[in-house]
Amino acid sequence: MKRATLAALGLATSIAMPAAAEDIKVGLLLPFSGVYAALGNEIEAGFNLALEQFGGETDATFEIVREDTEVKPPVALGKAKKMILQDDVDVIAGIVSSGVLGAVRDMVHGAGVPLIVANAGNDEATGADCSPFITRMSFSNSQVNRPMGMWMHEQGIGKVYTLAPDYAAGRQMIDAFTASFTAAGGEVVGQEFTPFQKTQDFGPYLAQAKASGADAVYVFYAGGEAISFVKQYDSFGLKAELPLYGSGFLTSPLYVNAEGPAAEGVITALHYVPTIDSPANAAFADAFEAANGRVPSEFAVQGYDAARALIEATKTGASDRASLANALRSVKFEGPRGPLSIDPSTNNVIQPIYVYETVAGEDSLTQKVLAQLSAEADPVNGCEMAPVSN
Ligand code: PHB
Repeated sequence: MKRATLAALGLATSIAMPAAAEDIKVGLLLPFSGVYAALGNEIEAGFNLALEQFGGETDATFEIVREDTEVKPPVALGKAKKMILQDDVDVIAGIVSSGVLGAVRDMVHGAGVPLIVANAGNDEATGADCSPFITRMSFSNSQVNRPMGMWMHEQGIGKVYTLAPDYAAGRQMIDAFTASFTAAGGEVVGQEFTPFQKTQDFGPYLAQAKASGADAVYVFYAGGEAISFVKQYDSFGLKAELPLYGSGFLTSPLYVNAEGPAAEGVITALHYVPTIDSPANAAFADAFEAANGRVPSEFAVQGYDAARALIEATKTGASDRASLANALRSVKFEGPRGPLSIDPSTNNVIQPIYVYETVAGEDSLTQKVLAQLSAEADPVNGCEMAPVSN
């Protein structure tokens, strides 16, 4: 029974009574509007699918409270506060933007509410600002981009121009790529950060890239910005002379068909592509497609694995905030991406990274895996993890 219900019944809430496993209130904190709205909807679709598929494995039932972050850190912080103080949630899941994650970090840590991150790659949340209450089932910004620096240099690319939106994720992704590309011997000949959620015309940046003397361009864009960028890159005539690379959100299966032929030949890297050849992925992709009428993206799998992690945590008997936080950090299962576990020193998921090319498939664009790079755990990056006492 929940604390609020006990209080309503006039029972002293200080009596040590374990919360019944069948009553977990989940705050789903996602963008349902703004440039990342499609990502929020996709994460929710994956989350719901896992609840349907695996919910029967636990005695717990899940009540969902959903709120729209609007991709705005102050709005998201207000919504997180409401979930924690008013709705009395046991756990929060979601968060797409690194800026939003940075904004809610102190609130969830201070209140001792477990947060399952289902997208936002903010390196600090599993680095210097790590928390035993924050477990990330998606990726970190550097985890996805670091391997590409080495891989691209191995392919013979010597000079790169970089572009990304000007906020935490854009900067961290480009920094991680730059560090590994230059350590391998490459040179970043120019970089620019474009105003986040405000840039309509990438023309001036593309002109600079063209004039830079680079062999290739490396970018991070996602959602609506990725669609505009990829289309403009192609219509500017750059694709043939300056090959386009990036983190794989650029050509996510979620919106690659909106990019159309402009996305063909773009080479990117991600922790999940729907063409991963494994029985676990085939089962997931079939079920997702049957439920939603489209191929699943990395965002779908992140929502799916976030709900799966929650279910696994409740199977240990955990039901209150502290025990859920501890159980979440220890989950381990075989998902559509392959075997997943949480790095105990950062609480970030450990996973392989796939380099893929977007190619024309039978009736839509698809992802051709060019390389599977080894499982990536982040450096500890200043994280000092303290366990939670139950
Ligand atoms: C982020 O802000 O961390 C972020 C947003 C969208 C993505 C990836 C990362 O596709």
